[in-house]
Amino acid sequence: MNANPNPRTRRPLIAANWKMHKTVAEARAFLEAFLPLVRDVQGAEIAIAPPFTALQTVGELLRDTGIALAAQDVFYEPQGAYTGEISPPMLRELGCRYVIVGHSERRQLFREDDALVRRKLEAVFEHGLVPILCVGETLEERRAGRTEAVLERQLRAAVEGLSAEWVGELVVAYEPVWAIGTGETASPQDAEAGAKFLRSWIRELFGAGTAERVRVQYGGSVKPENARELMTENVDGALVGGASLDPQKFAGIVKEAAAAVSIS
Ligand code: PGA
Repeated sequence: MNANPNPRTRRPLIAANWKMHKTVAEARAFLEAFLPLVRDVQGAEIAIAPPFTALQTVGELLRDTGIALAAQDVFYEPQGAYTGEISPPMLRELGCRYVIVGHSERRQLFREDDALVRRKLEAVFEHGLVPILCVGETLEERRAGRTEAVLERQLRAAVEGLSAEWVGELVVAYEPVWAIGTGETASPQDAEAGAKFLRSWIRELFGAGTAERVRVQYGGSVKPENARELMTENVDGALVGGASLDPQKFAGIVKEAAAAVSIS
């Protein structure tokens, strides 16, 4: 556990990824319990990514709270004959600020490849939204010593050639696939190593100023009990799945993470 708050210039972002959980009624009940718990939290930004069906209601309930609305996915065209898809302008209209792009479940279960992730990421930026780009290695890749190669490939495909201005706004979620939904959290050392590698790679391509602005989250079995120690030097928040479904647990994570950093 960090005895002293970790100083930094970036404001950590603690984001809830509800995945395919919560009806509108359940989302409403969550917020009734959650909002009073985090009313006094300072020093960390909070975002909630409900399913598409609950975006409107959650957006209305978050108005004037300072908590950001996020979407879990998006399609890259603004409109058209794409049955079942949702466009960036549609998300904007509902008040979304963030959009999760390239989550490992989308990559694995829905065959999203680096090229598709890139198109989505660009579309998100073009429409004035902020992508939360998920990257991370599988257990097999880690065991083969390929973690850095995988992170570099995913990040390069997503951002190479974009403007430094856009990239500086980006949130990257380092999510080792083996730690997602498994209860097996990366050690703070592993989380820091991944985040540091991602930031140094951005520094190489876009310069130190941009690299300092990018927020790198850790994701994968984050809980109130480990949130504080995971906020290492290069880790600026968390992307939380399972534990974000419970208002007490998610509020606990937010408070632990906020207490772990001091913003200069
Ligand atoms: P988890 O999910 O917290 O349930 O491991 C994290 C994520 O998929 O973003």
